[in-house]
Amino acid sequence: MLDIKVTRSEHLKQKPADETALGFGRLFTDHMFVMDYEEGRGWHDAQILPYGCFAMDPASMVLHYGQAIFEGMKCYRRADGHLQLFRPRDNFARMTRSAQRMGMPALDEETALEGLLQLIRIEADWVPHRDGTSLYIRPTMISMDVGLGVHASRTYRFFIILSPVGAYYKEGLKPVSIYVEDEYVRAVRGGVGFTKCAGNYAASILAGDVAEKKGYSQVLWLDGVEQKYVEEVGSMNMMFAYGNKIVTPKLNGSILPGITRDSILKLARQLGYETVEDRLNIHEIFADAKSGKLTEAFGTGTAAVISPVGVLAMKDEKITLGDGGIGVLSQKLYDTLTGIQYGRLPDENGWILPVND
Ligand code: COI
Repeated sequence: MLDIKVTRSEHLKQKPADETALGFGRLFTDHMFVMDYEEGRGWHDAQILPYGCFAMDPASMVLHYGQAIFEGMKCYRRADGHLQLFRPRDNFARMTRSAQRMGMPALDEETALEGLLQLIRIEADWVPHRDGTSLYIRPTMISMDVGLGVHASRTYRFFIILSPVGAYYKEGLKPVSIYVEDEYVRAVRGGVGFTKCAGNYAASILAGDVAEKKGYSQVLWLDGVEQKYVEEVGSMNMMFAYGNKIVTPKLNGSILPGITRDSILKLARQLGYETVEDRLNIHEIFADAKSGKLTEAFGTGTAAVISPVGVLAMKDEKITLGDGGIGVLSQKLYDTLTGIQYGRLPDENGWILPVND
């Protein structure tokens, strides 16, 4: 593990007075963690610095060829004031998998975790107190070489920034409306759909914008070959409930292996529900919703937590799922997951890492 140099900011920002108005990813704390990589030298110069701009050459490779990957995790404040992280090692391990696919170097996961812990201890007062709020953590890795030849960069930068957040969707835990995208696709097998690379999100922006103008919160992506099988919603994995059975698209290389997805599948089984990972035909989902066999649908993600889906629309068809409100199962899984994350429930799976106990 690398030594981490700390330089404190001399101009601390005002902390948000109203935690009901945090929104998502609009405010950033006073410091950030940065470390650099160079071929032959490895990761070096790990440091915590005042939050600020990077000087970038306009020919920096990340700006042209998009070697950029990121993660999303959260720090939670327990009722006794102590802070804790949820499965941070899994996020850093996933970042290394993303890096490998994108031709980038494996992360120094131990230094990244130690840097994150030290950064949060410095920024502890930024972790909000209100129920449902948290400190969102955004680790990112970008290529830094200057030049226009398309090849792997020799230099990379890894950084972590922090943002106090409330709910990702303006609806909070109220059900969101989702549009099933039938023109564009997000990813194909053999591509980079399973990585958390910036390009996957760039590819989703146009469709998301069009859906938003029609009054939907997000789009649901279908597979890139037949445009028939459910993939994911970009900001979350999708789950569908048939009574006590939860079904979700299986990991096929083109969807993100969500850490919240994995946690919810494990918790659901521990609570006695059946879980199935399979190919899900969107036309069957619509038919099952109409016949009442499909009882609930919800998305899972770090930012979105559990987000019930009240309405699904595709072309001219629009269906309401369940009674359009938050379902019993979604609520139960939300309460269980957030209960563990905020320290109200015991962590029987070893997912919690205390920051300052
Ligand atoms: C997360 O849930 O942390 C993500 O990275 C999704 C992003 C679209 C906010």
